[in-house]
Amino acid sequence: MTKTIRKAVFPVAGMGTRFLPATKANPKEMLPIVDKPLIQYAVEEAIAAGITELIFVTSASKRAIEDHFDKNFELEYKLEKSGKTKMLECIRGAIPENVSCVYVRQAEALGLGHAVLCAHSVVGDEPFAVILADDLIDGGDNPCLSQMVETYATHQSSILGVEEVPHAHTDRYGVVKSEPVADRLEKVTGIIEKPHPDVAPSNLAVVGRYILEPRIFALLETTGRGAGGEIQLTDAIANLLQEEPVLAYNFKGVRYDCGSKLGYLKATVEYALKHEELSESFREYLGELSLS
Ligand code: UTP
Repeated sequence: MTKTIRKAVFPVAGMGTRFLPATKANPKEMLPIVDKPLIQYAVEEAIAAGITELIFVTSASKRAIEDHFDKNFELEYKLEKSGKTKMLECIRGAIPENVSCVYVRQAEALGLGHAVLCAHSVVGDEPFAVILADDLIDGGDNPCLSQMVETYATHQSSILGVEEVPHAHTDRYGVVKSEPVADRLEKVTGIIEKPHPDVAPSNLAVVGRYILEPRIFALLETTGRGAGGEIQLTDAIANLLQEEPVLAYNFKGVRYDCGSKLGYLKATVEYALKHEELSESFREYLGELSLS
């Protein structure tokens, strides 16, 4: 039977230390790129890929995410009364009616692997997507997760979203060793978390998009603490690929590492330059800046 991807997990329980103090009381996933929080871009990408159940792994300080996707009767009433219909549609339409949201708590920030494991009972025994909202990916007409879901439809095995990074940066990512299978597709033969450039098996780095078979949960249960003292998803994937095929998909699109200040600023500038209300005046402003 052909399996499809219906559920997506959004781990949003990290501490966001690279963005302090902004992330002391506010989740980093609520940082806006122009006028939309990062988490909403991620949710829109999931919905475009056909996901109908959104599972957020949150922590005590992340209530703003729950509120963001909840109904706000007072705001809707006021917008309606003042005839601001465009704004009203914009906040009403964030989650379509056929899509549901589930919130799971990660009591302690024990790492991405642990956060994914917290979603086990909601995901159950089916393949699922994982989206890290701080990796914002502009895939144009064909968003990254849609490309991966399409690839999954053919291959029916776990898929990691990857991209080539500068060799000197391998110690910031999970890095794969792989063999080519098809255009943009590799079979993963090894994976290691944050390898020093001298020992990295390649410069193909895993970024924040995964499609995982449910076997990963049993492997996460037995994964001990790895790099940084955290339970690493990468370590469980290393065990998964000993048992079943894992693919790496080099997606089409541009990724912005919005967990870092520079990546966040680049995304803000690029998205502002494409924004329907802002592009002209912002371009003009940037022109003035570069002349001065
Ligand atoms: P990061 O490695 O970016 O960590 O997590 P972080 O805590 O968010 O940020 P820094 O490095 O301290 O600045 C990658 C993803 O995994 C989630 C984060 O929310 C982020 O989406 N995560 C990480 C959890 O949900 N729980 C954790 O225990 C750790």
